Amino acid sequence: MKILAIETSCDETAAAIVRNEGPFENRILSNVINSQIDLHAKYGGVVPEYAARNHVDMIDVVINEALKLAKIDFDEIDAIAATGGPGLIGGLLVGMVTAKTLSIMWNKPFMAINHLEGHLLTARLCYDVEFPYLLLLTSGGHFMFVEVFGTGKYKVLGETLDDAAGECFDKVGKMLKLKYPGGPLIEEYAKQGDQKRFKYAMPLQKKEGCNASFSGIKTATKGHIQSLGENLTYQDKCDIAASFQGIVINFIERQIKKAYAMTTTSIQNVVISGGVAANLALRAALLNFAEGLNLNFFAPPVSLCSDNAAMIAWAAIERISCGFPYSPIDFNTRPRWPITET
Ligand code: KG4
Ligand code: ZN
Repeated sequence: MKILAIETSCDETAAAIVRNEGPFENRILSNVINSQIDLHAKYGGVVPEYAARNHVDMIDVVINEALKLAKIDFDEIDAIAATGGPGLIGGLLVGMVTAKTLSIMWNKPFMAINHLEGHLLTARLCYDVEFPYLLLLTSGGHFMFVEVFGTGKYKVLGETLDDAAGECFDKVGKMLKLKYPGGPLIEEYAKQGDQKRFKYAMPLQKKEGCNASFSGIKTATKGHIQSLGENLTYQDKCDIAASFQGIVINFIERQIKKAYAMTTTSIQNVVISGGVAANLALRAALLNFAEGLNLNFFAPPVSLCSDNAAMIAWAAIERISCGFPYSPIDFNTRPRWPITET
């Protein structure tokens, strides 16, 4: 089976062609991403209107490129998938209308995919990861612990009550006057910083369950930065980055232990996904957590953890393989689409 997928839910215009035969390393025939980061950088965050316009400009370019790189023709595609939500409505509509049009023109079935399901199943595109597993999805828009029982069978064990972790990295980046998105730069600065210099209270200390909250950490960081006055030295920035990243990781470590305690199946595998999964310090902490419990830890390559269309194609392959129906051509785009409603 070969699937063409389109992903336009946020600030990446992406198209990919993925097949389900052969060794893992040969399954992605093409995975094209046009990032809009430079477009949004000067605003310090994604501007939905500009994002939608740029998707319109780039969607045909990335699809053509994906077909060219995969060296296949329309005829060889079995179905067309696109992210149907959740995400920014303008971008979602561009991807959905394009996928539906191609589906009608080429007479191929169409499948709307939940963006989160793409992140949830990515590890299985790369490695032999068996169900059930405990997954941490941490990106710019989402933070959740999910027990993944099987394709389409998900239980959200806990999620953020306010900001997503990536959003918090980006806001702290802005406070430190770093280029958008702040996440990768904070990780770089943190390498040369003193994690113990700035103190934080652990969020949700008295709360049961494994929900998360990052807004208190963000506010505390703002206070630490203000206490340093107008001109921060390079070392000040490194120390803020290290202390901030340290508390975020300590908090995630604490909550994932609770998430694991809440699982109801015999979990053997721990998986991370989403853009923040690029953070090597976080990966190391989760590997340590998994090894301590004799569990396997899987972290897909960074290029597949952040938004891409290969994960959307893969989710479609998993769903089709399990006998889930295709989507009706009048499927309504869903800017809000809980993962439990797939
Ligand atoms: O999944 P993603 O590409 O897009 C969505 O938000 O859906 O995630 C992007 C997020 C941004 O907030 C970015 O700052 C964060 O992932 N990020 C990181 C790192 N690399 C990317 N956060 C912390 N450390 C990193 N190395
Ligand atoms: Zn995402």
